[in-house]
Amino acid sequence: MPITTCIFDAYGTLFDVAAAARQAASEPDFSAIKDDWPALAEHWRLKQLQYSWLRAITNAHCDFWQVTQEGLDWALEKTGHGGDAALRERLLQLYWELGAYAEVPAMLQTLKAAGLNTGILSNGSPAMLRGAVDSAGIDGALDALLSVESVGIFKPDARIYDLVGQTFGCAKDEVLFVSSNGWDAGAATGYGFTTAWVNRAGDPVDRLPWTPAHMLTDLTGIPALAGV
Ligand code: LAC
Repeated sequence: MPITTCIFDAYGTLFDVAAAARQAASEPDFSAIKDDWPALAEHWRLKQLQYSWLRAITNAHCDFWQVTQEGLDWALEKTGHGGDAALRERLLQLYWELGAYAEVPAMLQTLKAAGLNTGILSNGSPAMLRGAVDSAGIDGALDALLSVESVGIFKPDARIYDLVGQTFGCAKDEVLFVSSNGWDAGAATGYGFTTAWVNRAGDPVDRLPWTPAHMLTDLTGIPALAGV
């Protein structure tokens, strides 16, 4: 079947999650992280994701804003900034307003102009997704913001990927699912979507039972993969 529907992961895929720590590090008030912001950003992201998986498999769901804060608290303590309340507040504010990668607006417009369905499928809570989409100015190019909160469990539970068919009425093989998270693109492959892994960092392929169908270094090649 031709691709009718392009679905994007949010954090790390459309929105640059390292931008919060990078931006804070450039501000005079937060020069304390000018050297170790990359480590802080990496610890934050990894803990946020670990907590999401652990909460999913232990049936202890909370929303992604809570695991985002809990991951940040661990990362701040790990990097020696645990008592810095102003830094914590600034990083969370910046995370709420993450910018989109430079190629995102034009890429989404190309998909919409070709008549494809477009949407986000994310762990993010509805309010987080609204904040990020509005700050990035890409709302008009997205037909749906699908949050795991309507199911109450995090990715990669198959019920999350079910939201795409439930929303757009499309078959699995009409969907191109795009994620910068190798585990998300892998699990979506196992689910039955055609998948593209956006591997900006040149990371190794995740050792999982499923391998993404396509690998890209940014999002500019997505319309071609969708047949546009
Ligand atoms: C999301 C995380 C996994 O947006 O990046 O769902």
